[in-house]
Amino acid sequence: MKIFVTGGAGYIGSICVEQLLEAGHQVTVFDNLTEGHRKAVDSRAELIIGDLQKECDIHDAMEHARPDAVMHFAANALVGESMENPSKYFRNNVYGGLNLLDAMVAVGVKKFVFSSTCATFGPPDRLPIDETLPQRPINPYGESKLMFEKILRWYDEIHGLKFVALRYFNAAGATERFGEDHRIETHLIPNVLKVALGQRENVQIFGTDYETPDGTCIRDYIHIVDLAQAHMLALGTKESAFYNLGTGGGTSVREIIATCEKVTGKKIPVVEKARRPGDPARLIAGSDKVQRELGWKPKYQAIDKIIESAWAWHVRHPNGYGD
Ligand code: UFG
Repeated sequence: MKIFVTGGAGYIGSICVEQLLEAGHQVTVFDNLTEGHRKAVDSRAELIIGDLQKECDIHDAMEHARPDAVMHFAANALVGESMENPSKYFRNNVYGGLNLLDAMVAVGVKKFVFSSTCATFGPPDRLPIDETLPQRPINPYGESKLMFEKILRWYDEIHGLKFVALRYFNAAGATERFGEDHRIETHLIPNVLKVALGQRENVQIFGTDYETPDGTCIRDYIHIVDLAQAHMLALGTKESAFYNLGTGGGTSVREIIATCEKVTGKKIPVVEKARRPGDPARLIAGSDKVQRELGWKPKYQAIDKIIESAWAWHVRHPNGYGD
């Protein structure tokens, strides 16, 4: 199939592009390179540099590519930043996304895979978080993604645009060639690995007084290749659907740090800090629906395997993509 990938130069997008190409698909990447990196775009893909907030950019690119399906990763995705600058999140994630959908409608593209998030749920009433729980986001990032999920329902009803929205939990890990390199790194695993590389002195633990066994937050880390597989399975569906995507396992911040010490063989000094605003204590996915309906099965359940893949990439790319 011909797949048009927005945000294909970013962490998750770049690895999905690689996996799509490996599976024999033809790929056009559309990216403004503000968060992404030119070197993160697989050379077998076509790269169009453009901005979703410019209607003509995305319209011309869609007209040129005329794909069978669109995968949409281009978005801002930091909870903390969204609490300081909500406008950026609503403009890029909602308005930018809307321009993309309108370009698809204009060109007659009917298949869409959306990168959504468990942040659309907010703090859950129970665990694991399955698709039946109410969505009550507590930050503009989660709200922007939920708004877009609602827009998708209407574009399906009115324009017949079929979508699959995948609500990821915590994406982690790397392939041999592509990994996680954010210009400003806020994520736990890459920050810990930077300490192991000697690029930072210590890792901060945000909150040690949560109601969890060791007092630190628990997250459901999903390997990036498993996540990419779910996107490819989503290409084969006929009906629109929402799926939560995680492994169903939970790992605390302290457990992540201990696993990084084991994998890297380095001591990781920690500094205990106050809680980070907007962090729920536990987020664990109920992924029965995606396993049942799409036949998705995560290959990398063990956190040490996920961290090993991330570490191997960081060792080979100590300065990330180097831009
Ligand atoms: N943390 C630390 N120290 C750090 C970085 C993070 O203690 O240096 C803690 C956080 O407080 C949190 C946990 O590690 O408890 C994971 O934090 P991340 O920043 O790695 O990931 P988040 O869970 O905050 O957010 C990620 C994505 C979001 C997505 C969310 C869904 O960045 O886009 O997962 O769970 F919405």
